[in-house]
Amino acid sequence: MNDPNALAWDAPSLAEAFGARFRVGAAVNTWNLDPESPACAAILRQFHILTLENESKPINLQPEEGHFVFEKFDRFAAFGQANGIALRGHTLVWHGQVPMWFFEGENGAPATKDQLLSRMRTHISTVVSRYRGKIATWDVLNEVLRDEGGLRESRWYKIAGRDYIPEAFLAAHEADPDARLLINDYNLESSEAKADTMVSLVEGLLREGIPVGGVGLQMHLSLYTDLELLKKNVRKIAALRKLDSALRLEVTELDVSCYRFDDTAEDLDWTPALEEAFRTKYTELFRFYTELADEGTLDTVVFWGLSDAVSWLNGFPRRHKNYPLLIGRGWRVKPAFYDVLALAGNTEEA
Ligand code: G3I
Repeated sequence: MNDPNALAWDAPSLAEAFGARFRVGAAVNTWNLDPESPACAAILRQFHILTLENESKPINLQPEEGHFVFEKFDRFAAFGQANGIALRGHTLVWHGQVPMWFFEGENGAPATKDQLLSRMRTHISTVVSRYRGKIATWDVLNEVLRDEGGLRESRWYKIAGRDYIPEAFLAAHEADPDARLLINDYNLESSEAKADTMVSLVEGLLREGIPVGGVGLQMHLSLYTDLELLKKNVRKIAALRKLDSALRLEVTELDVSCYRFDDTAEDLDWTPALEEAFRTKYTELFRFYTELADEGTLDTVVFWGLSDAVSWLNGFPRRHKNYPLLIGRGWRVKPAFYDVLALAGNTEEA
């Protein structure tokens, strides 16, 4: 029976249902790990892999050069170990939420390439070696591509050119040879040019012997996402496994907004029509994920947030009420939650 009023900690478990196929996870913040909190109850019931939404980004881990702040990440690591929950490390190199000192040189000049790469290696080796054996997967590089194709002209790129990319993987691999190392990006499902750049970049890295373990597909989607294009682009990226069968895809930041990106609409109410579209989208998506999992391509699906109430999409790209996850406000699971759950047992017929 699908109880329409079930709360996330009483409802059937997504983690259990999909466990044989892929790990199901969520982005959390350390305040969600308090054992007394509803968030913690929801986590323990529904998920078996977690990512920190913000607290493990460079600006939080090393706000000043040489001054590392590990309390929150340590807490996260301890929670994972105590509860048998796998953990993802997000993220080592990004143009966002990175302190400016990385890029600053002497007397107001920009950092030199050597300076920047050395700071990057120090950050990566300090962080990754501290959590060696405790973090299953690292988003080593986040969002290094442009939507139009090609490499993003970030400060990293402007100072170090393409070299920071292989160097980041090498430093992470040296610090934890057993961790899976990913390159993670958004809009890979909607921009063919971006997906093509990802394919050629990873192909090049693999040919150079760089230890790339897989590609992270963020999948910040909307009700308007073209799922045929999504499948085509994901298949292109999955074909990289011909070069290295150990390569995996992970869905790293899943959510489905009810607004188009450039939509200026005021708060939308959750109408039956929206609900229907949402259910259809999630069903088709998870049907595709189970296909990918059954062929060994995908083994992790992580939602970006625990529930609609705390999703970043309530504040981005503007403030408006959003409903992007399977757990709604008040911790109630949605009809789409049950639709998705049903796929776990019925993929042959689906
Ligand atoms: O911590 C400060 C707080 O002190 C201050 O009072 C408050 C005022 O705005 O801001 C707080 O920082 C915010 C931070 O989240 C923590 O809540 C930042 O303004 C806000 O920009 C930041 O947003 C995060 C965003 O990354 C930053 O780019 C979102 O929570 C987080 O969900 C989002 O996550 C990213 C992934 O890392 C990469 N992929 C895209 C994804 C969504 O943007």
